[in-house]
Amino acid sequence: MARKMVYHVLLAFLLLTIISVVSVRYEPNWDSLDSRPLPAWYDAAKIGIFIHWGVFSVPSVESEWFWWDWEGAKTKTVVDFMKANYPPDFTYADFAKNFKAEFFNASEWADIFQASGAQYIVLTSKHHEGFTNWPSRYSFNWNSQDVGPARDLVGELAAAIRNNTDMFFGLYHSLFEWFHPLYLQDKANKWQTQKFVESKTMPELYEIVNRYKPDVIWSDGDWEAPDTYWNSTNFIAWLYNDSPVKDSVVTNDRWGQGIMCKHGGFLTCSDRYNPGKLQKRKWENAMTIDKQSWGYRRNTKLSEFLTTDELVGTLVETVSCGGNMLVNVGPTSDGKIIPVFEERLRELGQWLKVNSEAIYGSHPWTYQNDTVTPNVWYTKTKISSTTAVYAIVLDWPTNGKLQLGAPKMDSSGVVYLLGYRQQVKFSPGGQGGITIMLPEFADGTMPCKHAWVFRMLGVKN
Ligand SMILES: *[C@@H]1O[C@H](CO)[C@@H](O)[C@H](O)[C@H]1NC(C)=O
Ligand SMILES: *[C@@H]1O[C@H](CO)[C@@H](O)[C@H](O)[C@H]1NC(C)=O
Ligand SMILES: *[C@@H]1O[C@H](CO)[C@@H](O)[C@H](O)[C@H]1NC(C)=O
Repeated sequence: MARKMVYHVLLAFLLLTIISVVSVRYEPNWDSLDSRPLPAWYDAAKIGIFIHWGVFSVPSVESEWFWWDWEGAKTKTVVDFMKANYPPDFTYADFAKNFKAEFFNASEWADIFQASGAQYIVLTSKHHEGFTNWPSRYSFNWNSQDVGPARDLVGELAAAIRNNTDMFFGLYHSLFEWFHPLYLQDKANKWQTQKFVESKTMPELYEIVNRYKPDVIWSDGDWEAPDTYWNSTNFIAWLYNDSPVKDSVVTNDRWGQGIMCKHGGFLTCSDRYNPGKLQKRKWENAMTIDKQSWGYRRNTKLSEFLTTDELVGTLVETVSCGGNMLVNVGPTSDGKIIPVFEERLRELGQWLKVNSEAIYGSHPWTYQNDTVTPNVWYTKTKISSTTAVYAIVLDWPTNGKLQLGAPKMDSSGVVYLLGYRQQVKFSPGGQGGITIMLPEFADGTMPCKHAWVFRMLGVKN
């Protein structure tokens, strides 16, 4: 009898738990939306690929001129460049017919992205120019099916990523469009009308979520108008409560004036945000391999690309401080990822093959960087019940010794160099800290070419 009662009580308790889990519903306000736990895949993933591709890939010079200053032509250089290179009656829309994507092979892109070690991608479904890279019902004659490629670019890449890789698929979406008449009208009305939001932005967002089921919604183009104008919290509440991706989707923080760096799923704060210290909330460093531009530039120079060393360094610094790195490439209008981008991505992947255990699924440690040796960054992971602390050394010391001020370890500890079979000798230092005796390598035999990782077991702090 008593046993039966216990059983009933347990059952009731279980049911209540299930009901309370199932019935968590988020309200369309930031307190409620910010309380949603970030789906775990996102923090574990650490690396994503950002892809800026659109009509702006056709002029493919200083991309930001073209997105921001076309009609107003506020920048003298834009005016000069256009006068010199295009007929006087040429408009931005005229670029679209030259957006042909004739060499675009989504499987090829998927292979390159997978080889980089990235765990998710974020493609521009629509940038500030308003051109949709999918056949939107809400972007008449200004989408990749009706003009230019005559293909569903978003759909092709989504299929290749899902069929050929184990990466998550995400979409960037610009809330505003610089030249849209309804947007300009709402702006003139000081955001008291929402014609543009009602007929364009919101329908499009629902359309891409329902059609392509993205795991990331990377919002942008928000900053001129308040979140109430954009109806952001209503959209996100639907995304979290009722959308087909409610359990997996993550979203960023660009949802209205003053919202960035405060609210949303993860914080992006500014372009190329890399604070160098631990942050309270999950954040992302959205950065570019071409240091000057998000879109492809025909006039780029080799010196304007990050080296693989710099790319790995940025990843390490970002991950140590709790961030994810979203690495941008700008494909050409004909659909190619040029070899410089491809090489950087593949070399990043080679580095990760040796050193992934210090990156994927890792957490920030007590210290983010070392207290005595510059350019040493830390992460940690749990391997069953023991904690491994990783010291990631961006510069290999030339004197045969690596002095670390942060980790406290006695002689019961163990140190390994990832990619190197034997244990590495170390001695506990006088004022805490340790000194690692570096193994010697003949030319070309180091475990990797950039940033060496020491796994330390038995760290006491
Ligand atoms: C696209 O790329 C894949 C992978 O590289 C290749 O197998 C396939 O043949 C390519 N398709 C076309 C149409 O070129
Ligand atoms: C804002 O979202 C709510 C809830 O989905 C909807 O009822 C309303 O029509 C939306 N307003 C605009 C301007 O889109
Ligand atoms: C650790 O990083 C912080 C922030 O970037 C920096 O100010 C500090 O100098 C670094 N420490 C060393 C020893 O380089």
